[in-house]
Amino acid sequence: MSQVNIAALLNMAEEARGSSYSPYSHISVGAALLTRSGKVYRGTNIENASYTPTICAERTAIFKAVSEGEREFLAIAIAGGEAGKPSKADFPPCGVCRQVMAEFCSADFLVIWGNGERWTVKKLSEILPSGFDKNNL
Ligand code: THU
Repeated sequence: MSQVNIAALLNMAEEARGSSYSPYSHISVGAALLTRSGKVYRGTNIENASYTPTICAERTAIFKAVSEGEREFLAIAIAGGEAGKPSKADFPPCGVCRQVMAEFCSADFLVIWGNGERWTVKKLSEILPSGFDKNNL
């Protein structure tokens, strides 16, 4: 936990909301993913007129990092809510993003969501108990 500056990471997630492409839901989401080496990858949600190709902010950040060769992650911060409004305190990651986190992140990976005033910090193992991963193959 001490290696993670929660307020700073949440602030970067809030900044990433500014790049959201969300003309259909008008929900803008930002994510900031911290690697073990201290680098931060940001992501935002990118929607599509055909709806199902939409990708969440968390997966954008994770896929950006993995495609650059990163494999070790400490934490992700998520900020989301109605576009143009302050981030909601309660904006947890969707189930698909939790599954993608389980592919690349350990059980003690920290998942943080909220805003500058109120936030939640959970271990991945708490928000995806009994998950399916490579150990089940
Ligand atoms: N969204 C995310 O970016 N992350 C989540 O964990 C939940 C939902 C996005 C997808 C869609 O563009 C919008 O929020 C409304 O669901």
